Amino acid sequence: MPSNMRESGSGEGEALVALVTGAGKRVGRAIALELARAGCDVAVHYCNSEAEAVAVAKEVAALGRRSAVVCGDLSDPKSWPAIVDQAAASLGRLDVLINNASEFSSHFQDSLAAFDAESWERLLRINLVAPAALCHHAEVLLRRSGRGCVVNLCDIAAARPWPAHLAYCASKAGLVNLTKSLARALAPDVRVNGVSPGIAVFPESFDKPTRDRLVSRMPLAREGSPEEVAELVRFLVVSGGYITGQVVSVDGGRSVIS
Ligand SMILES: NC(=O)c1ccc[n+]([C@@H]2O[C@H](COP(=O)([O-])OP(=O)(O)OC[C@H]3O[C@@H](n4cnc5c(N)ncnc54)[C@H](OP(=O)(O)O)[C@@H]3O)[C@@H](O)[C@H]2O)c1
Repeated sequence: MPSNMRESGSGEGEALVALVTGAGKRVGRAIALELARAGCDVAVHYCNSEAEAVAVAKEVAALGRRSAVVCGDLSDPKSWPAIVDQAAASLGRLDVLINNASEFSSHFQDSLAAFDAESWERLLRINLVAPAALCHHAEVLLRRSGRGCVVNLCDIAAARPWPAHLAYCASKAGLVNLTKSLARALAPDVRVNGVSPGIAVFPESFDKPTRDRLVSRMPLAREGSPEEVAELVRFLVVSGGYITGQVVSVDGGRSVIS
């Protein structure tokens, strides 16, 4: 019996309800749709991409699942409880939290030479503090679920840092550590795991030579896809009933070469 059908908790027999942050586009969109295909109802969170989030919610509904659209800027602490409350109020419960939303530092200089404390603090708030805060605000709901589960979108750059992206890499290293701490803090009621993509989909700012150079270092000789990341998230949510505190790479083998 798949873990989303376990006969425990208050939601016995009901579909899992998942909140996916940053789900209007790219990897978040793929996760929302994959979870819907796996039988979950999905709250699609966005910050700026309203039209895209509404379209994803419609796609979830077309797959026969319930959906909701939830807005919030994760750099604003006031949004943290509001995002959880909106998702739970719209769909009646909350079993799964996917911390996918993230700021990538391609739009500001993130090298040591260009160090800027305000940019660092904002990025860490979005990428590290907000996932912890959403877990805090969702804790009662996730524990009550009996099938509670969190997946944090990390990055292989946590262990293979880039000097041009100091704050981003530090935020993801922190998220890897947070994943393990939260797995202990929320056990045995809620499982907490992480997924570390290598290249799922390039940042729009990367030019072709940069993309080619990065792909040339991949043992599997290609970039990945949002769908391949989403499949791993789905596994951890639906089938990984005895897995917690793990961060799994989906990176074409990049993390095993120098
Ligand atoms: N793409 C990759 O190859 C790759 C590689 C390694 C790790 N990852 C990780 O995998 C996850 C998904 O990757 P991605 O490339 O799809 O991410 P992304 O496009 O960089 O960002 C995903 C979403 O995060 C949301 N977001 C950004 N700032 C926000 C804020 N202040 N408040 C609320 N939401 C905010 C945005 O939502 P709106 O558009 O609605 O504003 C954005 O669409 C991220 O955690 C990323 O770090 C991705």
